[in-house]
Amino acid sequence: MCDFNQMFEQAKAWAIEAGKLSLARLESPIQFTYKSSPSDLVTHVDKEVEEFLVNMILKHYPDHGIVGEEGTFERDPKDFETLWIIDPIDGTTNFIHQKLNYVISIAVVHQEVGMIGIIYDPSRDELFCGRKGEGAYLNGQRLRLELPVKQQEALICTSLFWNQRAEKYGLEKVVYDLPRTCRGIRVYGCAALEMAYVAAGRVDAYVSLHLNPWDFAGGKVILEEAGGSVSNLEGEELSFSGASTVVASNPFLYPELMAYMKQSFN
Ligand code: IPD
Ligand code: CA
Ligand code: CA
Repeated sequence: MCDFNQMFEQAKAWAIEAGKLSLARLESPIQFTYKSSPSDLVTHVDKEVEEFLVNMILKHYPDHGIVGEEGTFERDPKDFETLWIIDPIDGTTNFIHQKLNYVISIAVVHQEVGMIGIIYDPSRDELFCGRKGEGAYLNGQRLRLELPVKQQEALICTSLFWNQRAEKYGLEKVVYDLPRTCRGIRVYGCAALEMAYVAAGRVDAYVSLHLNPWDFAGGKVILEEAGGSVSNLEGEELSFSGASTVVASNPFLYPELMAYMKQSFN
């Protein structure tokens, strides 16, 4: 039997502890290496935080699987009914350059359904969390997206502008025109934080052409529990088993934004 309530409380506590660890590490110089390119970085802190989370999870739940960006847990996720999907530091480039605008993201997925989402922003001490069927919260305050928003009044977050995939998807014109269709564009460089901000109503949508499950899993649970809409660009439910395009939106804006994005497919 899975006690999701207990897991929820533990995941929140571990995310906060991991966040404090990351803040402590910022007091000394951060060592980083390139992964696939000079803009794809990993630090010793990404690895240390992931190891901390993996150790905590396995200590309490030795029969659960883990998908972490840094690959600390090596077994095949398909072998597990309950999976923890973790991004130890989402926004590594911000972590190195700015020492803020990065988060710890944790999700628990049971039989392919997102049950728990936690996003912790250590620099602002903000904990966004959601539990399936139980609502979403920011530092204990309920999050509910209840106010209608039109695209012309919306603040939209995206990493579309520099994404070469825009060409592959035939989205160049849509992407180029996007700032003129809305009130403003915001770019935080941290997918999980941007999805949490949609849930909190600080921005109205976030669009990406390529995210991995560890980038969007926690944000999907939180945003859906806040009443928001999350899908891929085709309008399909996001799968936790692979990379995907992502549209995360205020529910009232979602149909208009999807129609705008889809015009390029016609
Ligand atoms: C990245 C950030 C970034 C997004 C990238 C992600 P990382 O995650 O979320 O905002 O545009 O697609 O890979 O590498 O900092 O964990
Ligand atoms: Ca990430
Ligand atoms: Ca990461």
